[in-house]
Amino acid sequence: MSDDPSERGSAMEGGGFYNRHSAMQATGAAALLALWEDAYRTVDIGQGPVTIVDFGSSQGRNSMIPMHIAIDGLRDRLGPSVPIEIVHTDLPSNDFTALFEALATDPNSYMIGTSGVFPFAIGRSYFAQLLPPKRVHLGWSAWALQWMSTSVVKAQDHILAGMSALPSVVSAVEKQQASDWRCFLKLRSEEMRPGAKLVAGFTARTATATGWEWLLGELWSAAGEMGKDGMFSEEELNQITIPIGLRTLEDIKAPFVHSGYFADLRLEHLGLIHVSDPCWEEFETSGDKATFARCHADMTRAWSGPVITSLIADIRRGPQLASELFARFERRLLQVPRPHRPYMAAVVLSKRP
Ligand SMILES: C[S@@+](CC[C@H](N)C(=O)[O-])C[C@H]1O[C@@H](n2cnc3c(N)ncnc32)[C@H](O)[C@@H]1O
Repeated sequence: MSDDPSERGSAMEGGGFYNRHSAMQATGAAALLALWEDAYRTVDIGQGPVTIVDFGSSQGRNSMIPMHIAIDGLRDRLGPSVPIEIVHTDLPSNDFTALFEALATDPNSYMIGTSGVFPFAIGRSYFAQLLPPKRVHLGWSAWALQWMSTSVVKAQDHILAGMSALPSVVSAVEKQQASDWRCFLKLRSEEMRPGAKLVAGFTARTATATGWEWLLGELWSAAGEMGKDGMFSEEELNQITIPIGLRTLEDIKAPFVHSGYFADLRLEHLGLIHVSDPCWEEFETSGDKATFARCHADMTRAWSGPVITSLIADIRRGPQLASELFARFERRLLQVPRPHRPYMAAVVLSKRP
């Protein structure tokens, strides 16, 4: 498998599945809206078309509300005639068909009730420059920047690279995440206009917790069960490492510590949000364990299914083995339901005016 994320098939579960099963991500995005509102109300626009970029949009459903409120806010500031470009970016393997269908049919589509709005999509990794220099006024990125630019780090003790306890894996993930963060910042700085702002939320951790311990511990245990039943060898289990790392707030701050700026970007805001669990809220009302387990199994499959399938050595049986893994995972979640509350970093960056 290629280590270049633009070549590997690690986008979200296709056929609109991610759009239908990403309520947790929607809950996290909602917690970023106050920061976003402040950004689009205060950003320096200057003349001409406004360009808003959504980095790691996936199938677009969770971007509808943030984009819609930004369009409305900018219309209040700039009047009806200024064109607004919305550029959604993701990996080439992303289900862009679902994105364009959502733009046409989702009840929250930002195309409804607006005019002079022009949606575009770019199928290319954001570890490359995606837009011409000084083009972008506003950037948005939700739940994407935890993905590493490479899948070379393999954890023998966990399904998620960033949750390994092995010192060599911990340090390789930290190094990769530090280098990816600097790379992302430099590239976005090139694209941003002076005074532009970027709001990002992504999976993060405290010094001791990620919030994913229960959920991904169960996924790893389900994979281990399959190993015991002869469906995966030890080597295959080592290979199945989701290339995600979780940064601390200190890691995120690091490039800015020396001078307050990095690549002409200033860290205007940095916070840690403890995201609530929409499946748990439903469970508390219904008491329905099966629905709770299905809710988390589908949501987990929506973001991790394709990458897990692509890492299963037996390519022909990959989809079947992945289905078995998620069925066992769901059965495990049924045993002792509990809230899943991940940590999300909330970041606002501004480009030097
Ligand atoms: C969990 S989804 C988040 C989607 C959406 N922003 C949301 O809030 O629901 C993460 C997205 O980031 C994308 N992604 C991961 N690495 C990327 C990269 N290097 N370049 C562009 N997109 C990337 C994935 O393909 C996926 O669609």
